[in-house]
Amino acid sequence: MTLPTHVKLVDVGPRDGLQNEAQPVPAATKIELVHRLQAAGLREIEVTSYVSPKWVPQMADNAEVMAGITRQAGVRYSVLTPNMKGFEGALASKADEVVIFAAASEAFSQRNINCSIAESIERFRPVVEAAHAAKMKVRAAVSCALGCPYQGEVSLDAVDDVVARLQDIGTDHIGIADTIGVGTARRVQAVMERALKRVPLAELSGHFHDTYGQALTNIYACLELGIHTFDASVAGLGGCPYAKGATGNVATEDVVYLLHGLGIETGIDLNQLVDAAAFISTALGRKPVSRVANALLAKRATA
Ligand code: HMG
Ligand code: MG
Repeated sequence: MTLPTHVKLVDVGPRDGLQNEAQPVPAATKIELVHRLQAAGLREIEVTSYVSPKWVPQMADNAEVMAGITRQAGVRYSVLTPNMKGFEGALASKADEVVIFAAASEAFSQRNINCSIAESIERFRPVVEAAHAAKMKVRAAVSCALGCPYQGEVSLDAVDDVVARLQDIGTDHIGIADTIGVGTARRVQAVMERALKRVPLAELSGHFHDTYGQALTNIYACLELGIHTFDASVAGLGGCPYAKGATGNVATEDVVYLLHGLGIETGIDLNQLVDAAAFISTALGRKPVSRVANALLAKRATA
């Protein structure tokens, strides 16, 4: 078994992380977070979402945040877009990439985007076309691929079906998401092996929430299959407003520590990443939800 030599991490903290914050987070704080992430070496950052502000008020400052970022060459800034209205916002803000998000569970699709899986695919179709016409990449997230907060079990066939439909409309990249963090390693491998029958290795990624403490193990299980792109969230920020009880994404610091320990390159400076985690955690008035960040911050304090 050979593991990948290089892994690409997408920090989704500014979007997936902060979307769930009940307290208002000023746009300036979000912008500073993005700046700190790029300074730490992140080359893909999911900045915000162009969704209904009635559904997710925390992301209502999307245009202000996108306009406020000092862009760095070589960094890709992505945004979530559920429909053409969202895409128009993404285009106006000059996002590099749009992320469409379908679910492998009908119940979650209804709660999250107020339509069936089939209807969501039809809404995404023109988004993919318009994005490609504008030379933007399209990433797709498949939510609830390892379990659903409303319907429980999600079958391998259900995930495969959504992956096939997203491929059919021309999506460039597929992210398999464990929205509520219930998956375990062998099941994750089974889902990924099935997806790899349709999606090239370089265009398949994992998005793990750490609710049941399985995220790092699940990432390792993906590495065993050669998968080398993962979403993670600085300071372990987040959760999903439509998945009650789900904790944040796996912390980027924890993933970087694992990968560097395995001799896998990420291009990320762990110390600067911990600075970013400390910055946003202080702004939110709590400690990072990252074992690594807390360990390194404690070590610094005693040094
Ligand atoms: P709807 O109410 O069915 O939409 O919501 P509609 O088309 O009937 O429009 C209703 C109103 O919303 C209209 O305004 C539209 O203009 C407006 P009004 O005339 O009433 O004033 N509207 C919009 N406004 C701003 N941006 C838009 C937009 N679209 C319509 N794009 C909709 C459907 C999809 C809009 C809504 O359900 C929504 O915004 N959902 C987003 C939910 C969300 O963001 N969830 C979290 C992200 S997913 C996630 O975190 C999972 C992920 O991380 C992977 C994982 O972990 O699984 C990706
Ligand atoms: Mg998520």
